[in-house]
Amino acid sequence: MKALILSGGKGSRLRPITHTSAKQLIPIANKPILFYGLEAIRDAGIVDVGVIVGETGNEIKEALGNGSAWGLKLTYIEQESPLGLAHAVKIARGYLKKEPFVMFLGDNLIKDGIVPFVEEFKKNKPNALVLLARVKNPQDFGVAQLKGGKVINLEEKPKKPKTNLALVGVYLFDHTIFEAIRHIKPSWRNELEITDAISYLIHHGYEVHSHIINGWWKDTGKLEDLLEANRIMLDTLQSQVKGRVSKDSRLYGKVIIEKKASIVHSVIRGPATIGENTRIISSYIGPFTSVYHDAVIENSEIEHSIILEESKIENIGRIEDSLIGKSVVVCRHPRKPQAYRFMLGDSSQVGII
Ligand code: G1P
Repeated sequence: MKALILSGGKGSRLRPITHTSAKQLIPIANKPILFYGLEAIRDAGIVDVGVIVGETGNEIKEALGNGSAWGLKLTYIEQESPLGLAHAVKIARGYLKKEPFVMFLGDNLIKDGIVPFVEEFKKNKPNALVLLARVKNPQDFGVAQLKGGKVINLEEKPKKPKTNLALVGVYLFDHTIFEAIRHIKPSWRNELEITDAISYLIHHGYEVHSHIINGWWKDTGKLEDLLEANRIMLDTLQSQVKGRVSKDSRLYGKVIIEKKASIVHSVIRGPATIGENTRIISSYIGPFTSVYHDAVIENSEIEHSIILEESKIENIGRIEDSLIGKSVVVCRHPRKPQAYRFMLGDSSQVGII
């Protein structure tokens, strides 16, 4: 069995962060989202993984290398433009050949991994197995209708969803999916939808099984989703202090301090994680906060936020519910006239009190 992990796409709902970086590489609890997917694939005993890349391909390749860090063999497959999930499968045909495969959307996080689903698929050998989860906003997903455990209908982002069962971004297929993809047409958003390809299988007598997952799952397309994912993943970690913590600092609850990080005259209330080489000085880091590597937080308070690498936050009263990109500087200037001074990327969001 092989895997196909999708790491193209534009991440338009996460601009400006995704103007310059791949959404799949945003760290959750200081680990890029995509790494969780690769770990889930590895834990399911799969070694050969095709990685679909688009505009951000170079950055993805740099982060994943040849996959040996996970014991995986990665093969990169370039998707010229984001023409849909089924298009990604289509261009991977030469790589996948006739083998069954797991397709994993690189911006999806499944807390408990995929081992049981891969086993179920291998045992029952349906043509497709889809994972479903009950959601409050089914109109934002592919939506399934079931009858006696079998999927009888699928609709992509319907205005009036018939159920609350959303398609999770992990699918298992045998080679019949290629026949289905040959028969579908691009949707209104000009994409070849995998949902339409699976519908073809359903309506042409193929077996499409489903599995409703009860564990936590998230499609991390928006800021709120990232913060939620960060909350959930931070909670699963164990405390570990590898860096330096000054005597007058306090750590409460689950706190991870990576190597070469230093905490000086500060309070960290977990769950929280502080990345390699990051310095926290005279500050408060509150629950559900991840600060990535080589950042500096001085004289400030941060809670329920994700701060990316090499950013600097100085003399700021309090920051909450925020995602701060790479090499961002947020500081207070004594300079007159007293005013806010910004250099913000397109689609930035700033909340001022
Ligand atoms: C895609 C699929 C959708 C599925 C979702 C899961 O949506 O088209 O059916 O429910 O992933 O993350 P997209 O992320 O392309 O909007």
